[in-house]
Amino acid sequence: MRHLLTGFEFSQEDYWDIINTAIDMKKDPKKYDRVLAGRSGAIMFEKPSLRTRTTFELAFFRLGGHGVYLDLQNGELGKRETIADYSRNLCRWVDCLVGRVFSQNTLTELAKYGSVPVINALSDLYHPAQAMADYMTVYEHLGKVKGVNVAYVGDGNNVTNSLLVAGSILGANVTCFCPENCSPDAAVFIKAQEIAAKNGCKLAVENDISKLRNFDVVYTDTWVSMGDNTPLDTVKKKYMPYQVNSSLVEQSGAQIVMHCLPAHRGYEITDEVMDGEKSVVFDEAENRLHIHMSVLSKLINA
Ligand code: CP
Ligand code: NVA
Repeated sequence: MRHLLTGFEFSQEDYWDIINTAIDMKKDPKKYDRVLAGRSGAIMFEKPSLRTRTTFELAFFRLGGHGVYLDLQNGELGKRETIADYSRNLCRWVDCLVGRVFSQNTLTELAKYGSVPVINALSDLYHPAQAMADYMTVYEHLGKVKGVNVAYVGDGNNVTNSLLVAGSILGANVTCFCPENCSPDAAVFIKAQEIAAKNGCKLAVENDISKLRNFDVVYTDTWVSMGDNTPLDTVKKKYMPYQVNSSLVEQSGAQIVMHCLPAHRGYEITDEVMDGEKSVVFDEAENRLHIHMSVLSKLINA
């Protein structure tokens, strides 16, 4: 049995298997409509979602299975009963647990006490299925992932960490342009860097935004992640030099601009860029569905 908790669990071969299957599912969905017949999953969200919730539910449906959505927005897992008991209950009924949680530790606990695959649908530390959809999108637009130069610009967060993890495994060069003290997680970065060294690619963190030149991809995300109630205007001054606007995109030389969404227009990205010809943000959003179908079928049928 395999989980998708961090993204480190999978080899380069696994990543390509997931991406290539997703591409085939996108092309020929009919072929896969009984893959999860009679199978089910619990979809648990402690935080809001549009894309991840919709696409996980639809992924079960499109594969002939069923996803039960458990609304946890009024309370964290582990409050009404222990996470261990919660997991032990669910595993008597379903074939998979999908969780969006405040703490990565909640997913570790679900996996520890459960008996079915656990999939991370975003935590404080990682957003691994997002990164898979993102590199699938890079592949569709640029024809390769290995050696592609990705610039992540903005706050070093869960999405950044997962871009580093998946990038290191797939052989992409990822540079994170972040303000001081807003870097991606140090431990994740070091672990990803070790993998990158073996795969012949480079990871870096950089404060100096004037060095954003000669990249293929510019990627950004919110300056304030879910769970942090700081108003965006409070942090605006610090992050404004990292705003993905037309002049920054031109300076970068990038062919495509990415954002996991939801976007805060006028903050981390301008309307002009979001709606511009280099923006592939809705392709990324669409690919969440195909990647979730692929991940569910790989893990549940393993
Ligand atoms: N990108 C993403 O995970 O979007 P949601 O928060 O809407 O699921
Ligand atoms: N970093 C963002 C991603 C949202 C999909 C957050 O955690 O809120």
